[in-house]
Amino acid sequence: MVSLGRGNQVSFRAVLAGCGAMSKGWLKAIAETPALRDRITIVGLNDINPDAAHRLAAEFGLGKAAVESDLKALLTGTKPDLLFDVVVPGARHDVVATALEHGCHVLSEKPMAASLDDARRLVALAARAGRTHAVVQNRRYIAGVRRIRRLIDSGALGELTALHADFFIGAHFGGFRDVMQNVLLLDMAIHTFDAARFMAGRDALAVYCHETNPRGSWYAHGAAANAIFELADDITFTYRGSWAAEGAQTSWESAWRIIGTRGTLLWDGAERFEAHVVDGDDGFHRPLAPIEVPPPADPAQTHGHASVIAEFIGAIETGRRPETAGSDNIKSLAMVFAAIESARTRTRQPIAPEDRQ
Ligand SMILES: NC(=O)c1ccc[n+]([C@@H]2O[C@H](COP(=O)([O-])OP(=O)(O)OC[C@H]3O[C@@H](n4cnc5c(N)ncnc54)[C@H](O)[C@@H]3O)[C@@H](O)[C@H]2O)c1
Repeated sequence: MVSLGRGNQVSFRAVLAGCGAMSKGWLKAIAETPALRDRITIVGLNDINPDAAHRLAAEFGLGKAAVESDLKALLTGTKPDLLFDVVVPGARHDVVATALEHGCHVLSEKPMAASLDDARRLVALAARAGRTHAVVQNRRYIAGVRRIRRLIDSGALGELTALHADFFIGAHFGGFRDVMQNVLLLDMAIHTFDAARFMAGRDALAVYCHETNPRGSWYAHGAAANAIFELADDITFTYRGSWAAEGAQTSWESAWRIIGTRGTLLWDGAERFEAHVVDGDDGFHRPLAPIEVPPPADPAQTHGHASVIAEFIGAIETGRRPETAGSDNIKSLAMVFAAIESARTRTRQPIAPEDRQ
């Protein structure tokens, strides 16, 4: 059970499963954030490759953590409150289901499942177990995305009509991504789709998508995709992306053009914002005036993984649903799988209503 630690704050015992590249990002975020470091104890490390777990324990000074490649044995032995799931997507369903069955609250890396059916099963399982199940969508926990959401909410651009995102990066990872199907849509575009849903405050209704593995691609499948989404309230969201585009790289957050009835916002995905709205009723091109993009409403929500982990434990503590709960995140995952299906069938694909509730 969770216990009261320093200052009567709840403290948590956690097992981390999947000790590869990304797990270091999690442990670094916890170590560098006092509010997390003081409250989370890693009591176990799990990986089908025990060497990876031992290396991680040594690198992060986790000598007291149990290392065990059998997840059930580790959960039975350590009885943690939390399971941090950083395994490869194909292993996710079984790891999360096992942890929920052992009474853990689970925070998973994206994508929340390797199929929509798996995702639905995990949402149902978490509900039955009465445990919090949330997903790391760290790229919505950054200042730029929060600022845009706030600008849209303020109405300064008028009514939102369209969001357009460009993502072009020549990324040579090696590892599981090189052999994955639909690699860009499933492993990366989920971030951009989720950010669009968050910025717009609207869910997706349908998509048309053209997916390719461009000539010269070093991936096995689906390194590029062009998708047009219909969001609620007649809002259009377009995505053009490639992980096999050398040169003229965009930000990992994508380069955005966001259009409202009164004006347009450009964001380069880093520090540069440019927003203008109409300032007069005459002329072929109406006169424009610059507007400020407000700062994030809560600076604590701008630290990527650290913010997601803080949101997760805060939600458990207070009994509320975390922002990226599986039951909400499945709507972003549904965008991905509808895009994949659209590309496969070359048809407009409705996004299943049960994934939009
Ligand atoms: N949020 C982000 O920005 C971000 C960035 C990179 C990766 N990721 C996600 O993190 C996850 C892991 O990616 P990575 O880059 O660390 O991959 P990785 O291949 O470096 O590490 C994955 C680890 O999981 C282990 N593993 C595989 N099956 C397992 C199982 N059944 N039980 C326990 N361990 C198992 C592997 O042995 C490996 O050590 C993926 O879902 C990926 O999409 C997220």
